[in-house]
Amino acid sequence: MALSLLAVLAAAALVVAQTSDPCTVIHSADSDDSQAVYTTISSCPAGQPIVFAPNTTYNIFTPLVLNSSDLTLSIQGNLSLPTNITQVQAAVNASSNGFWFYFTGSRVNVTGSPDPYNGWIESHGQQWWDASNQVARPHLWGFAVDGGYMYSLKFLQPVAWTVSLSGANNVYVGNILIDARSTGGFPFNTDGFDATGSNLLIEDSVIWNGDDAFAVGQNSIGSTNITFRRAFVGFQSHGLSIGSLGKDPAEPANVSDILVEDVFLENTLYAARFKSWAGGTGLAKNVMYRNIGVKNVTFPLYLTQSYVDQNSPGALRVNNASVLMQNFTYENFFGDINTFHPGDGSCVTDPCWYRFLLPVFRPYYEPGADGTQAAILRCNANACSDFTIRNVHLRPQSGVPATILCNNPPVDSRDLGIVCQNGTFVETGQ
Ligand SMILES: *[C@@H]1O[C@H](CO)[C@@H](O)[C@H](O)[C@H]1NC(C)=O
Ligand SMILES: *[C@@H]1O[C@H](CO)[C@@H](O)[C@H](O)[C@H]1NC(C)=O
Ligand SMILES: *[C@@H]1O[C@H](CO)[C@@H](O)[C@H](O)[C@H]1NC(C)=O
Ligand SMILES: *[C@@H]1O[C@H](CO)[C@@H](O)[C@H](O)[C@H]1NC(C)=O
Ligand SMILES: *[C@@H]1O[C@H](CO)[C@@H](O)[C@H](O)[C@H]1NC(C)=O
Ligand SMILES: *[C@@H]1O[C@H](CO)[C@@H](O)[C@H](O)[C@H]1NC(C)=O
Ligand SMILES: *[C@@H]1O[C@H](CO)[C@@H](O)[C@H](O)[C@H]1NC(C)=O
Ligand SMILES: *[C@@H]1O[C@H](CO)[C@@H](O)[C@H](O)[C@H]1NC(C)=O
Ligand SMILES: *[C@@H]1O[C@H](CO)[C@@H](O)[C@H](O)[C@H]1NC(C)=O
Ligand SMILES: *[C@@H]1O[C@H](CO)[C@@H](O)[C@H](O)[C@H]1NC(C)=O
Ligand SMILES: *[C@@H]1O[C@H](CO)[C@@H](O)[C@H](O)[C@H]1NC(C)=O
Ligand SMILES: *[C@@H]1O[C@H](CO)[C@@H](O)[C@H](O)[C@H]1NC(C)=O
Repeated sequence: MALSLLAVLAAAALVVAQTSDPCTVIHSADSDDSQAVYTTISSCPAGQPIVFAPNTTYNIFTPLVLNSSDLTLSIQGNLSLPTNITQVQAAVNASSNGFWFYFTGSRVNVTGSPDPYNGWIESHGQQWWDASNQVARPHLWGFAVDGGYMYSLKFLQPVAWTVSLSGANNVYVGNILIDARSTGGFPFNTDGFDATGSNLLIEDSVIWNGDDAFAVGQNSIGSTNITFRRAFVGFQSHGLSIGSLGKDPAEPANVSDILVEDVFLENTLYAARFKSWAGGTGLAKNVMYRNIGVKNVTFPLYLTQSYVDQNSPGALRVNNASVLMQNFTYENFFGDINTFHPGDGSCVTDPCWYRFLLPVFRPYYEPGADGTQAAILRCNANACSDFTIRNVHLRPQSGVPATILCNNPPVDSRDLGIVCQNGTFVETGQ
């Protein structure tokens, strides 16, 4: 008798323990679960993972700012932003930094679910794209941590910018899916990874988007030691970028040791791209792009050091300085160049609707380009040095020989590997 009573009490205690698990975020139907995330983090014993339960759709209706060190999140369920656009805009307007999920602190580990029906971060971007709504859009995921790990996360229809590692240091990112494919309006500014940080490794991702899939931009400290590798990039992506750098001539660029390798891009506007502003200052050095496969890409290998936003050139550029490029290597490019429908996928009619209305949406406008260029190298005089380009096997879809546009040959190159001319693309290396 006493024994069975004990058993009943023990079982009851177990039930209580399970339902009030301090580390599982409680979901409340039809209401905002954001506060429960904070509550769970503060009540869960240090070092234990905070779990979003499987088969549950959490309503993350208020932006989260998570400034905790030694934090582990295990996202086994779905996380959903509001579907109501006005509600999202109001929250973005009220937020401190415009991010929906923002992490700071040290040693932050966010792991998702391998289950295809769970672990999605859903932003309901389609309705924003269809309405061309660009007002108060959320930046989805800011991971400005020192020591961090992001693994197996799935981002569905981000409204705009997806993952920002701006200011991050020592971060590993693996097995991420970013799906910004639109069935209607163009998914503008759906950047994949903003990797303006240091000591970053991003690998094994699949990115379908409508802006840079990967971009190393500029911040006040500089970006160094960043690897992006083993990825598939598609939809109307703008590819793998360094830049834009040097927008403010008073703030020198400082980018070094960037490796981009083993990436396949399909239907994208650019593959490897560098962009710096006319009059910019500073240096980008030790950059390698290798093993880049393309299918139907308009500008596979592209660089300019004299970028000016045609629509808002701003104040007159103070001088003709350049962000210097030093020790750049491009090797093992293969695939086909988009000859027949060059340009951006936001161009859905012929002639392109925005050609007349909104010149700002003409990122493909490039003097002399005709869909046969394997490379467009617009170095300023003496501003590119120590370049190597080799083993580039890119073919225009029309079957004609590949061509090149080249403004100034990079200087001090032991083995430049190509002829800098406006004409046929010729390799000279071994
Ligand atoms: C989630 O739901 C599916 C379908 O109902 C079920 O097969 C699966 O076991 C559930 N997973 C968990 C962890 O409860
Ligand atoms: C999670 O989201 C994905 C993508 O929208 C969806 O396919 C899946 O059914 C959702 N899972 C649950 C349990 O609602
Ligand atoms: C995060 O917390 C640390 C330590 O409490 C503090 O120094 C830092 O300013 C906080 N950062 C933000 C962005 O709130
Ligand atoms: C969206 O939210 C706004 C502001 O909270 C509200 O006025 C509006 O009725 C909501 N729209 C829908 C369709 O629920
Ligand atoms: C958010 O701010 C923008 C201006 O940036 C304004 O146009 C919009 O009406 C605001 N929306 C809400 C819901 O507060
Ligand atoms: C991150 O957390 C996951 C799941 O909790 C764990 O398997 C993994 O080892 C952790 N990784 C790091 C680098 O802490
Ligand atoms: C470069 O970054 C990677 C990834 O974070 C790290 O493992 C490696 O130690 C870093 N290298 C240096 C020289 O700091
Ligand atoms: C540029 O970046 C490097 C590497 O991160 C750093 O050591 C150096 O101090 C930076 N230089 C300037 C002028 O900020
Ligand atoms: C090539 O890419 C362009 C631009 O994204 C697209 O319009 C076109 O349909 C693609 N062609 C093929 C054959 O997929
Ligand atoms: C040039 O960059 C490569 C990385 O792409 C690096 O291994 C090499 O050391 C750099 N060369 C010099 C002279 O710094
Ligand atoms: C900058 O370049 C332009 C065009 O080549 C030239 O007209 C101008 O004089 C230059 N300005 C300076 C300050 O060198
Ligand atoms: C290629 O054409 C551009 C623009 O017309 C010109 O500035 C450049 O000097 C030419 N390149 C060569 C190598 O002649």
